[in-house]
Formats: sequence, structure tokens, C-alpha cells
Amino acid sequence: MTRRRARARAAKAWAGRFATPTAPAAEAFTTSLPFDRRFYPHDIAGSVAHTRALVRARLLTGREGARLERGLVRVRRELDAGRFRFLPSDEDIHMAIERRLTELVGPVGGKLHTGRSRNDQVALDLRLWLRAECDALDAALARLQQALTALARRYRDALLPGYTHLQRAQPILLAHHLLAYREMLARDRTRLRDCRARADELPLGAGALAGAGFPLDRRFVARQLGFARVTANSVDAVADRDAAAEFLAAAAICAVHLSRLAEELVLWATEEFGFIELPDGFATGSSMMPQKKNPDVAELVRGKTGRVTGALVALLTTLKGLPLAYNRDLQEDKPPLFDAADTLRQSLDVLAAMLPHLRFDTGRMAAAADGLLLATDLADLLVERGVPFRRAHAIVGGLVRHCLATGTSLRELDAAVLRKHAPQLTPALVRRLTPARSVARRRVLGGTAPREVARQLARATREEAR
Ligand code: ARG
Repeated sequence: MTRRRARARAAKAWAGRFATPTAPAAEAFTTSLPFDRRFYPHDIAGSVAHTRALVRARLLTGREGARLERGLVRVRRELDAGRFRFLPSDEDIHMAIERRLTELVGPVGGKLHTGRSRNDQVALDLRLWLRAECDALDAALARLQQALTALARRYRDALLPGYTHLQRAQPILLAHHLLAYREMLARDRTRLRDCRARADELPLGAGALAGAGFPLDRRFVARQLGFARVTANSVDAVADRDAAAEFLAAAAICAVHLSRLAEELVLWATEEFGFIELPDGFATGSSMMPQKKNPDVAELVRGKTGRVTGALVALLTTLKGLPLAYNRDLQEDKPPLFDAADTLRQSLDVLAAMLPHLRFDTGRMAAAADGLLLATDLADLLVERGVPFRRAHAIVGGLVRHCLATGTSLRELDAAVLRKHAPQLTPALVRRLTPARSVARRRVLGGTAPREVARQLARATREEAR
């Protein structure tokens, strides 16, 4: 037998109780290595902190601790460099690292797992990974927010027909519309921040479920790893995956926001809307129809949302009905978690890269923001002349019907029609109805008036300068 094959069949750490080795089919089915190897920097950081706790508790001598730490640094280097040789018998990243460490440092490697179980170890790795991922997503969200702010600033005068029910409703500023997405992303960031803050607890020391049987200083370990607190209950610490579920809930909501933005880009790029020109670099052609320029990037941002929301449902379904404490089912938390995080990060990044290249047809948008969209403004004019709003609504409804029947606009209503339907108004007054005046009067806090939007923009710019 070659050395490699001999090593590949190395006995499991828990083989003592077993008379025969694991069946290859069982080994292949139960391994988590294909996906949990990304935990390795966290797993090693956790093992270094645990080693120091063992030294503090006099379970290791200072020399043994130093030897283990040096070995862990070497394992880390091998993994960083892609030189680490995984074996089929490794089971998961935790076992692979411990196996390699023992090869490097000898029997003292067998002391690392004192007072520790993979159950609290994996819970630790998960929280360390989640903290880092929340930070990375926060940075990606901030970049997309900046792209939205920059676009809003570039087009700060552009008008857009605002829609309800996808029917033209009232004129708004394009910048106002874009900054609406910025607000959603701001909330996404606070959700991730909340998730991170609740996840910021050290589970190590919980052992398999009952708590370590040695006097390990958990607060010391927490400080080493930068945790705000230690978990309060060892059973909860190994059984719970709330942090992952919260993360996926926040990710799913965020993905849905991106999907709505993507859907609008798809719509705006149609010939029917014609509001944007897609940048060539972010569009694709058809293999058959030479004229096509397709919004595939936006479509995939929309499409990938299914994966992220699916991941939340997958995890909750895995958790539902699990008795306390650890069950191997929990290993299934990672594939959806990693996939959702990667997918969301890619979507955020590609949108942030694409937005600066969008070209809006401001003339076409302004034209689409005119016409019957000013009906509310006409009703407001009547209200200013003492007509109760409900009555004004009915009067303008009649005038709209007149316009539709005669193919005219509200601005063209003549003296005879006005005398009959709305004697409070004159042709000179209705001629003053324009989309620009419509947006300008919406000066309430949070409204679409240029003055208000400028204030939102200034706030966004201040936040982004921090
Ligand atoms: N690979 C496992 C997981 O991801 C690690 C914990 C295994 N614990 C155990 N008792 N088998 O959940």
C-alpha cells in the first residue's frame, strides 16, 4: 500500500469504540469538507485561543502550548498556500486541521481537543464567520448605496413618472426614486448590524452540550477572539442556529430589495418604457436575433433572489423539530448559508459596478411624467380655492373624462369647459400645471420637492463621507 493510501485510511479520532471502519458510502455521505473548509481561518483562530485557555488552566505546559500554536500557524500556512492535503477520512475541516497538526507536532497534538467538542467548535466557527460576513456585506451595501447616491446626484433635476399599480401616478424626481432604494439598503445594514451584535457571543466552553469538564476561562477566550459576551447556556450554545437564521432573513430581505431594483431596470430598458440605455458592458446579445440587447445582469439579480430566500426556508426547515442539543442535521446549515452570502455579495457588487454606467433618457421620462399625472395637482388647486377635497376629486374626474374623450390635456381646458365644471378655475391657472411645479409643491418632509431631495442627498453625502 502506498503511503498516501495508508494515510487516506487513517483511523478516525473516534475509532476506539468501533470494530470496523466507516463504509466509504457513509464517509462520502456524511462529510462536510467540500463546504466547511472555508471555515479554516476561523477554526485555527479558535484553536489558538483554546490552546491559550488550556495553558491558563494548566492543562498544557507553556512549552506544549507554544508547540501547538506554532503547529497551528504551519497548518494555516499550508491551507493559505493551497498546499494542504485533505484526506477522504478527514470528515470535516475541524478533523482535517487536528489530524494535520498532530502529524506536524506529534502526540501533543492530541491534547488540543481537551475540554472541547466539535459541537462547540463548529458553533464557534459559525459565529466567527458570520461576524466577518456581516462586515463584508455591510461594506458591499455601502458601496451600492454610494452608487445610488452618485446616480441621484448626477440626475438630480430629472423627472420620472411615479407609478402605483404600474400605472402612471404622479411626477416625481428620479433622484427621489433612486434614494428610496438607498433607504432600503440602509435598513438592510441595520438588520445585519443587529444580527451581528446578537451573534457576538462565544459558544466555546459548551463542550458537547453540558459544558467543559475543566475550569476553562471562557471570558479570557472571548477576549482573545473579540467576542462581546459568552453564551449563557451550554445546551443552547451548541443547538441554536438563530444567528444563521437571522442572517439569512436579513439577506433574504436585502435580496428582495435588489430584485425590485433589478425588475425596474428590466422594465426601464424595454422599448415600451425606454427610460434607460443599458451599458454594453452589462448587457448581453441574442444568439439568433441580431437586434437584441438583453438585461441579463438585472434579470439574474432578480433570479438569484430565489436562491437567497430559498436558503432561509431551507435552514428553518432543517431546524424545525430538532430535539436539543446538537444533531448532525445542523451540518446542513452551512451550504444554504454560504450560498446565500456569496450570491448576495455578487448581486450587490455587480449592481454597484453597473449603476454608474446607466444612461437615462431624461426627455422621454419628463414627457412620460406629464399629462393626466397632473390631475391631483388640479384637484389641489380647487382645494386651495375652498372646494372640499372629495368634491374636487369628483370634479377633476369629470375633467379627465373630458380630456380623454377629446384627446386634450388638462393644461388645454378652455374657459367654457371650466365655467361649466369648475368655475373656481381659469385657463390661465390650469396652464400653470407642469410636472416641475407638481414636484416643487411636495415640500413635506420626505417629499419629492427638489429642496427636500437636495436635503436627502446632502444627508447621504454626509453619511458616506464618514
Ligand atoms: N461537521 C459537523 C457540522 O458541521 C461538525 C460537528 C460534528 N459533531 C458531531 N458530533 N458529529 O455540524
